[in-house]
Amino acid sequence: TTVEWEAESYDMGGHDTYMHKEIHEQADAVDRALRGRIDDRFSTVHLGGLNLDARDARAVRRVKILGCGTSYHAGQIGAQMIEELARIPADAEPASEFRYRNPVVDPDTLYIAVSQSGETYDVLAAVQELKRKGARVLGLVNVVGSAIARETDGGIYVHAGPEVCVVSTKCFTNMVVSFGLLALHLGRTRDLSVADGKRIIAGLRKLPEQIAEILANEEEIEKLAGEYADAKSMMFIGRVRGYPVAREASLKLKEVSYIHAEAYPASELKHGPLALIEPAMPTVAIVPDDDLLEKNRAALEEIKARSGRILAVAHQVQEKADHTIVVPKNEDELDPILMGIPLQLLAYYTAKAMGRDIDKPRNLAKSVTVE
Ligand code: G6P
Repeated sequence: TTVEWEAESYDMGGHDTYMHKEIHEQADAVDRALRGRIDDRFSTVHLGGLNLDARDARAVRRVKILGCGTSYHAGQIGAQMIEELARIPADAEPASEFRYRNPVVDPDTLYIAVSQSGETYDVLAAVQELKRKGARVLGLVNVVGSAIARETDGGIYVHAGPEVCVVSTKCFTNMVVSFGLLALHLGRTRDLSVADGKRIIAGLRKLPEQIAEILANEEEIEKLAGEYADAKSMMFIGRVRGYPVAREASLKLKEVSYIHAEAYPASELKHGPLALIEPAMPTVAIVPDDDLLEKNRAALEEIKARSGRILAVAHQVQEKADHTIVVPKNEDELDPILMGIPLQLLAYYTAKAMGRDIDKPRNLAKSVTVE
């Protein structure tokens, strides 16, 4: 497939930027990540390159995910999926921090290095340090045959196809989908039931169509970007599953538009950031229809009471919000895959309105291969 990519995929195909093109490739990209991997007979998935047999999978007592930038955020969502579906304690950490803090490397921990390029120096160095200490390290990588793919004991290719824009969109989505596959696989070697396995598989299969549905709503998001482009600074909030979505959306906006943005867990608002809320500081809130819906609504009320403007990304219109982008509902555990997608478009259209160099934001590089 490498050869096929060369010719057609580097063509902008009528889009004004690679970012716009890559956002629109996501339904196909996710379809590719799922293809050939689902095993309906056992309600699980096959991940050919994992190099982890059932006994190894059962022996994992903890999962530690390492990555940088957008890949780190994908890892945060991945850690939650692994905890939820496989009930293995999991967390994500920036690879750069990990390698410099003399981490305790535990033989029962499964380490996962996440990287689009597979060449990010901090991630590679973390992998090498882990290997040197005898740890088992998997890669969750886009570029086939890259340094991190070669140095790891096995892993998952996310199959997003080439990503040219400096900021990551389709690759992020495919990373999160790949984590969903891994969480399902680990879950089904443990206590995740056949029924839950089926439920997650059905949810995964719905994703490409639901992504297409979100992207078809593009005009509405372009209008909204106009409404918020005057902001000097923006707050992004979410809770549990929604929090890493908020972090990634905040990163995306600052990378391409250069608008200052912060992400906070909605539950932490009252412990400080509420002081910032005023009309000039709009809030983007991730409000999924899950067991935390009422809690999230309470946060919207707190912001409204302080005259904050609110843009909600939700499964139903939020009364307290000034605007709601309604996204299709999936299974609770998979909702984070979809909820960030409209915010990629929001970042794109905001940057476009401001005349930014969208594919090559100032001071940033697609992959940072030096320390
Ligand atoms: C750079 C890019 C980011 C990317 C990060 C990690 O900082 O600007 O968009 O998320 O590197 O890259 P990787 O290739 O390891 O995913």
